[in-house]
Amino acid sequence: MKIIIKDNYNQMCEEASKVMKEVILKEDVILGLATGSTPIGLYKLLVEDHKTNKTSYKKIQTVNLDEYVGIPQNHEQSYFTFMHEQLFNHVDIDPKNINLPRGDVKDLNKECQRYNELLAKKIADIQLLGIGGNGHIGFNEPGTAFDSVTYITDLQEKTIQDNSRFFDKIEDVPTKAITMGIANIMAAKKILLLASGVNKAEAIKELVLGDININCPATVLRNHPDVVIIVDKDAASLL
Ligand code: PGA
Repeated sequence: MKIIIKDNYNQMCEEASKVMKEVILKEDVILGLATGSTPIGLYKLLVEDHKTNKTSYKKIQTVNLDEYVGIPQNHEQSYFTFMHEQLFNHVDIDPKNINLPRGDVKDLNKECQRYNELLAKKIADIQLLGIGGNGHIGFNEPGTAFDSVTYITDLQEKTIQDNSRFFDKIEDVPTKAITMGIANIMAAKKILLLASGVNKAEAIKELVLGDININCPATVLRNHPDVVIIVDKDAASLL
């Protein structure tokens, strides 16, 4: 596991964009993507790079980690909308190469199966991750089995509270999500985890220094052969 500590959020994003671009330049690759506030600066840099250097996404395929259950795909807070607003609408990616799980279909079990089968065929060359204040990756909350595959999860109170900043009121935050399981995430060839801010310091400390245990799902990454963690000073403040 390689840990890179940068002075601030912008420098963290700069460093992350170098790691991502190295993979993107190979062209015929699969990117595992993440939502949340952490990767926004990285996506901005990738869009800028596409505009300035003409880096192409034409042959690139993507798989996203997760999606809320119970809001339509075109909801302003859906992860489908987020990904289009932050990245897909601004690069030359082919819409048919974009893959996200759907949380707005009737048969969610069937959707989990569909996404799981898709992931078995589309192994990410790099999987981008944020980390929850409680150590979650994707929406794999503390206590999730390391051998889990795509499933419907109940969001923990801390996650609902953390995400309520994006909604008018806390009652509007979905309480369930469809997420890649930990085994799906671990199948990626390379993993890039980003964290910024003091509210992530405890989780980063546990990830780097704690025991590998299901109560901090991110600790599973220590079992992966190729992980790069890029954090700012605040997120690294307990190391
Ligand atoms: P954040 O979320 O980037 O909005 O902090 C990360 C996560 O919960 O995985």
